[in-house]
Amino acid sequence: MKYMKGRAEIDMKADYKNWMPKGMVIGTGIGGLISLMLLMVIGISTMAGKVFLVITILFAIVTLWMIFMYRAFSYNGNRQLSRQIIEGIAAYVDIPDGGRGLDVGCGSGALTIVCAKRNPKAQLVGIDRWGKEYASFSKDLCENNARAEGVSNVSFVQGDATKLDFDDEVFDAVTSNYVYHNIPSRNRQDILLETLRTLKKGGTFAIHDIMSKARYGDMEEFAGKLKDMGYEEVKLIDTTDGMFMSRFEALWMELSGSTLLVGRK
Ligand SMILES: C[S@@+](CC[C@H](N)C(=O)[O-])C[C@H]1O[C@@H](n2cnc3c(N)ncnc32)[C@H](O)[C@@H]1O
Repeated sequence: MKYMKGRAEIDMKADYKNWMPKGMVIGTGIGGLISLMLLMVIGISTMAGKVFLVITILFAIVTLWMIFMYRAFSYNGNRQLSRQIIEGIAAYVDIPDGGRGLDVGCGSGALTIVCAKRNPKAQLVGIDRWGKEYASFSKDLCENNARAEGVSNVSFVQGDATKLDFDDEVFDAVTSNYVYHNIPSRNRQDILLETLRTLKKGGTFAIHDIMSKARYGDMEEFAGKLKDMGYEEVKLIDTTDGMFMSRFEALWMELSGSTLLVGRK
């Protein structure tokens, strides 16, 4: 997408940033360098030197792990895992013409924008609290990305997934990716119900997250509860068996338990 600034034509490109914040990778790398410098000053023969050797090695391992994750998630790298996941979820988000869709915890707007592109006659709303733990994501970034992608059927609003500022049954589809596991010490099934509260009868949902037992409790039981409540076609799809990633990738990226919950209200 190009736009004119003064006499210059500027090429605008969407920038979806990275789930692994760049500042965290750089900060860890700098920590390792400082530790290495102290090790060189103190020398390895002393007790303190040995401690700094261990700290330096740990920093090196963690920095390398973060770099590999950053590269795998990157929208521009070879693996492009984030893009693959976002497009995979969006494939389940079908909104009737004139309808509305909600993306909870939209981050940089990636999923909201792909859904808006797939459903050009619908309106998509992306909400996020844009807190300090994902400091590179913001409402401005989402709006710039939508502009860069030439997408106008989207809007972005600050909000909290645990208490959505929408009436009951106002959306034709709801979606979300890797959000609820970030919300500390909450009953995550309740957060799912809060999202589903905003879904119209007949509307569809596609919610992807790390739905391990430790984080979500018994999701099979939850799926059964949804069916008892009248929800249809409820499915829990394991996305670590090759659908989005391999089990090994999920393990080293700490994404084991990644599951897509889909269905119709
Ligand atoms: C890993 S990012 C995923 C962003 C986006 N869904 C994507 O797939 O690129 C997690 C996002 O959840 C958001 N988030 C965390 N807790 C939230 C809450 N209580 N309400 C709304 N958003 C929240 C963060 O601000 C962050 O943007």
